[in-house]
Amino acid sequence: MQRQVVLKNCGRINPRNIKSYVHEGGFAALQKARERMKPGDVIGEVAASGLLGRGGAGFPCGRKWELARNNPEEEKYVVCNADEGEVGTFKDRYILEHDPFTLIEALAIACYAVGAPKAFIYLRAEYRFLFPLVSGAIGQAGDRGFLKEMDIELREGAGAYICGEESALIHSIEGLRGESRYKPPFPVDGGLWGKPTVVNNVETLMNIPAIVANGSGWFREIGTEKSKGTKVFSVSGDVEKPGVYELELGSPLSELVAELAAARNVKMVQVGGATGRILPATMLDTPLAYEGVLGSGAVTVYDESRDVIDIMRRNTEFLAEESCGKCTPCRDGTEAMLEILERLAGGDGEENDIRILQELGRVMTASSLCGLGQAAAVPLLDTLEHFRREYETRIEQSLFLRSIPGFKA
Ligand SMILES: Cc1cc2nc3c(=O)[nH]c(=O)nc-3n(C[C@H](O)[C@H](O)[C@H](O)COP(=O)(O)O)c2cc1C
Repeated sequence: MQRQVVLKNCGRINPRNIKSYVHEGGFAALQKARERMKPGDVIGEVAASGLLGRGGAGFPCGRKWELARNNPEEEKYVVCNADEGEVGTFKDRYILEHDPFTLIEALAIACYAVGAPKAFIYLRAEYRFLFPLVSGAIGQAGDRGFLKEMDIELREGAGAYICGEESALIHSIEGLRGESRYKPPFPVDGGLWGKPTVVNNVETLMNIPAIVANGSGWFREIGTEKSKGTKVFSVSGDVEKPGVYELELGSPLSELVAELAAARNVKMVQVGGATGRILPATMLDTPLAYEGVLGSGAVTVYDESRDVIDIMRRNTEFLAEESCGKCTPCRDGTEAMLEILERLAGGDGEENDIRILQELGRVMTASSLCGLGQAAAVPLLDTLEHFRREYETRIEQSLFLRSIPGFKA
């Protein structure tokens, strides 16, 4: 079911003028938090709401804030992850473009709750055009006195997918090379400059003012038992109505893909970007929820005209290009997968290719350093399960053609 919690101000307020946001009740939640709630009460409310991270990993937001709050270090930071480098994801861009003020209010509430005087918004390089809009909104909030005893700084990325991963993002803000690092320590213990740092996705934060204003009970009414609230999706690919949609968590994938985005002759859907799951058309009743499929909210639809092997080749090419190269399983594993997929796509498959791809996938998942390598094989393994016959046929064709004397691929 469509329901607007995160996007409720998009199209209603003027993103360039704070007055229209205040007119719609903006900053009332921040005022309530600061005047009528202790930091621990705010965290308690966020924890009770059941809000889980919307950036892909689904970590409980209140728990993250609590861990940072309880850390005895005095210097703490809050970071808004607006890197959005995930393939097919453009919902955070839409949010920032249409409602930067809710995000600023959320960051101010987060800083108050966690005890951090400084927040960063890490904006991907390709969203440079949003820099004036967002910094203008921060300036207006500051001028109106909403950012007292705190400061929000905008930082621009340099265009790397891996910099959306929280430890690589932290390195990037520190001016270091954008590479992930071993965890623990997690950012709440040792984040920016080794200090406790809360990293939250744009959409996660967008829920905060409404939770503080309406209470956790209101939020818990929306969604399923394990997945509270709504989710914003970016839908693209073979659909008549691509765009940004917000649905109650637990809604079936078919509602988003077939009803709202008007997809026809669906062959498969990738949910969650380049490392996201692949579902065949027979699984469109899967719920969009943490207990179903979700990821970052990128939904890419492929119709019957698409070649699964070629889609996986392109997907893996992206991952191999974007692997930071720090750990061997991801760096060499994505290259090895790509080599096989390029051969398969070019009609030069070998008998053992499927087995090797599956083994590679298992090793990468088990031994890579961060989420990129750990999930890089997910879509490929899904297609090997649901579209295995297409791989087998391609290999059989290659073997047959090579058996013809004098034939060259
Ligand atoms: C390769 C990779 C890219 C990621 N890109 C993003 C991103 O663009 N935005 C984001 O919020 N989280 C991204 N994440 C997840 C972050 O590491 C982190 O879990 C998230 O920012 C935490 O915020 P949340 O708890 O509010 O979801 C990425 C993870 C990986 C492994």
